Amino acid sequence: MCGIAGYIGKNQANEFLLSALKKLEYRGYDSAGMTILDSDGSLGYVRSVGKICDLEKKMRNEKKITGFVGIAHTRWATHGCPSEKNTHPHHDCKKDIFIVHNGIIENYKSLKKSLEKSGHKFESETDTEIIAHLIESHFDGNLQQAVFNCLRHIEGAYAIAVVSKSDPDKIIVAKKGSPLVIGVGDGEYFVASDASALVGYTDRVIYLDDDEMGIIEKDKYKIVSTTNNNQIHKEHCKIDSNVCEIQKCGHEFFLLKEIFEGPEVVENSIRGRIISEKGLTKLGGLEVIDQDKLRNINRIIIIACGTANYAGMIGEYMLEEYAGIPVEVEIGSEFRYRKPIIDEKTAVLVVSQSGETADTIASLQEAKRKGALSLGIVNTVGSTIARETDAGVYNHAGPEISVASTKALMSQITVLALLTVYIGRSREMSLVTGKRITDELKKIPKLMNQVLDTNEDIKRIAQKYSKYRNFLYLGRKYNYPIACEGALKLKEVAYKIHAEGYAGGEMKHGPIAMIDENFPCFFIAPSDSVYEKMWSNMEEVKARNGKIIAIATEGNEDIKDLADDVIYIPKTLEMLTPILTAIPLHLFAAYMGIEFGFDVDKPRNLAKSVTVE
Ligand code: AGP
Ligand code: GLU
Repeated sequence: MCGIAGYIGKNQANEFLLSALKKLEYRGYDSAGMTILDSDGSLGYVRSVGKICDLEKKMRNEKKITGFVGIAHTRWATHGCPSEKNTHPHHDCKKDIFIVHNGIIENYKSLKKSLEKSGHKFESETDTEIIAHLIESHFDGNLQQAVFNCLRHIEGAYAIAVVSKSDPDKIIVAKKGSPLVIGVGDGEYFVASDASALVGYTDRVIYLDDDEMGIIEKDKYKIVSTTNNNQIHKEHCKIDSNVCEIQKCGHEFFLLKEIFEGPEVVENSIRGRIISEKGLTKLGGLEVIDQDKLRNINRIIIIACGTANYAGMIGEYMLEEYAGIPVEVEIGSEFRYRKPIIDEKTAVLVVSQSGETADTIASLQEAKRKGALSLGIVNTVGSTIARETDAGVYNHAGPEISVASTKALMSQITVLALLTVYIGRSREMSLVTGKRITDELKKIPKLMNQVLDTNEDIKRIAQKYSKYRNFLYLGRKYNYPIACEGALKLKEVAYKIHAEGYAGGEMKHGPIAMIDENFPCFFIAPSDSVYEKMWSNMEEVKARNGKIIAIATEGNEDIKDLADDVIYIPKTLEMLTPILTAIPLHLFAAYMGIEFGFDVDKPRNLAKSVTVE
């Protein structure tokens, strides 16, 4: 999610700042900007929507901004669409204090309201801008103290870098929840979201920890606690100079990095959206919809493609079981050519990571034409679907670089669970049920980490089964869509293999004819309401010498009587098991593709966003 850079020292700041933004491009962004303070007290300020080369062009054509102190940013929008006015850096009323920020300020609305009441004027729609004005409201010439006082009011995640014209010879940085590092040079200091931006400038890096603030001047730096302002002694360490390794957090591929990012993604997806004591969820993007209108909806049609469609299928089970509303799930490329029955009591919910999938967009437009209320669950802020739906919820999953969608699915299932509580609690769902779901949701990131800890076992299993060329994935109820997802992932990234996802109960209606010792089956069989039925399916496969890889709930030893290999997941609510059962399937597919020597980030024939029919 976005990139931050800062420079203070003996050289022109713009050189490092541009270089750093380019090295941080992999983090995904939609716009970029920078502010540089010149020694004559003037300030250069340039922002551009689009790529860093667009920013560079602007700097060349408009005016070269010079100076020895500067901050820069590549933005991945979370609040306010990609536009020049929403691009960082943001500033205070006097254009004295400038800030760049990575993260989400949960309480920005209430802070903005009180700042506006005291006369502050805002230019952007972002949450970030409130930080600049809040610092201004505490600023008496001492930037460090003003930032310290400001941060005590901030809730949410941030990595920030701040400069001020009237306190010019320093950069103040602070971190909570988003990454930030300080590079130590000779007569110069660097700031960046991660160490990959420092390679070629210094190999000495200080990794800031949460609740730490850095005061960086030309010839010295100091780290203090943002909780008590006490100085903290931190030594620098050596950077691993393998830039790619750093960008992929040490993983060989973005696909693996993004699978391991799952717990953090779920945390970001629920951040600020659960009101525990009332068993409620808060989805700001839906508050524009009149509650009565939402309550009068008597049917939801979920429309999506690929992995997002499987997330929608899980949402169907959730909404029917816990919100008591009829739901049907449609593939975008099919819905757009049907004659759907839609009226003003129908809501269409489109799910899309990119927000640019042509078939989903066309279906959305068709449904809107017929008067449906249109809602979206989208990861990319300001995307076509985000703009064309009447209301929606952003995933906050950060950019998904790998073509195969993994972390977005985790977020989509999470947001669908939040939506289920949001709609359910305005209907029959009790506080107790709402609280049970939201309390369990908050535990999911920890449970996901437990599944990720079985990573080496899954790699071994993938290597063990790499000689097979056909797989059948079987699941029931909430895990039937995950069976489809597991098969899709294997086909996508290990395309020497054919795989098919099937409802467990359907196996006897045909596919079982294929089963023999050369046709392994993945059984997604957590201890849930349909476990006994899955057990019978496993016996049918076993009786035909089929190989079985089972995903089961930890503690279930019986399943070893039937399965050749077992991957365990922790116990959780049945409706949330898909978030856990998808992880082994994603890892299995990734390791299979890697075993075949494929670039699993860019599978042949595939595009990250299918913007054509
Ligand atoms: C999933 O791994 C694939 N990349 C693909 O099926 C994808 O889910 C589908 O194209 C939908 O994309 P969207 O979520 O951006 O709309
Ligand atoms: N929430 C901020 C915004 O939407 C920062 C997003 C980011 O991390 O790039 O501008």
